Amino acid sequence: MASPRVLSGIQPTADSFHLGNYLGAVRQYVTMQEGYDAFYCVVDLHAITVDYQPEALRRRSRVAAAQLFAVGLDPDRSTVFIQSHVREHTELAWVLICLTGMGEAGRMTQFKDKSAKYGESSAGVGLFTYPILQAADILLYQADKVPVGADQKQHLELTRDLAQRFNHRFGETFTLPEPHIVKGVEKITDLQDPTAKMSKSSSSPGGILDLLEDPGPLRKKIMRAVTDTGTEIVFDEENKPGIANLLRILSALTGTPIPELETRYAGQGYGTFKKDVAEAVVETFTPIRERTEKLLADETQLDRMLAAGAARARKVAAETMEKVRDRAGFLTAS
Ligand code: TYM
Repeated sequence: MASPRVLSGIQPTADSFHLGNYLGAVRQYVTMQEGYDAFYCVVDLHAITVDYQPEALRRRSRVAAAQLFAVGLDPDRSTVFIQSHVREHTELAWVLICLTGMGEAGRMTQFKDKSAKYGESSAGVGLFTYPILQAADILLYQADKVPVGADQKQHLELTRDLAQRFNHRFGETFTLPEPHIVKGVEKITDLQDPTAKMSKSSSSPGGILDLLEDPGPLRKKIMRAVTDTGTEIVFDEENKPGIANLLRILSALTGTPIPELETRYAGQGYGTFKKDVAEAVVETFTPIRERTEKLLADETQLDRMLAAGAARARKVAAETMEKVRDRAGFLTAS
């Protein structure tokens, strides 16, 4: 029997992934290449739904791809590619857009948040259709599982609704995908505002830990992370959200359960604890940064790896799209 499929995507909207991306999603990409037929894409088409510069997009797309290989995606086991290299993504998105209600798309909380920032009338239509393009990414590959952070749950629900709607109207075509959201790391928060999500677009520089950042600034940011005035290291989301976030981070990076960390740091104060969090982050990030730099030093080879990924992705996408065209009533081009 064929392995179940996994697909996920990440935007090239910053010069580095951050700790939230890494723990909430990217780390799962790596573990899931075992036992799954894995597809991971750098979603450059999603990145143009907000203001952007073409040269920055090109650079960030390569940097994103290099980081995916650097964290441990093996090009022989995982299909890593750039979304815009596979034309079927936009083609399927159009078909799905035509099946989506205005109200349904308007209910997406991420759209509401992002468009509020731009002002309702100046936010682009692309931002409105963003989740439908995401649905196309997933359904094209008939994915069973989609590793993501908690913020993507609603987009996954829309994806399932659209798949069901298409299947119901035009006949069984799409696999219904399930989100793979790992408890404890599904929402890593901002170090300066520990009730808000760590985010490329809204975190202040002091609140975000970049995968490609040097050890010095990483350590400084963790030592300056906002905590409460107490001294106890206990997991209390409501009253100690900063400490809870750091405990989640240390637990995820070292594989130590949170209760064990609470016991270990009992009576020790925040300083020692934060230092250990900093060391765990630096130890994890340093080899990834070094591998990313190496990969970026040879762009020709990196582009070759991405071309190979795109060729593999296209095969699967073309097969699905052929079915979709037929079921949806398009004439075959002869
Ligand atoms: P993006 O690039 O914004 O985020 C990439 C992944 O990182 C997760 N994430 C977090 N997880 C935990 N804590 C955080 N603070 C945190 N911040 C981000 C996100 O949930 C995401 O999994 N819409 C997607 C991109 C996308 C996609 C797809 C995902 C496009 N097509 C198809 C899956 C399948 C996004 O938000 O990417």
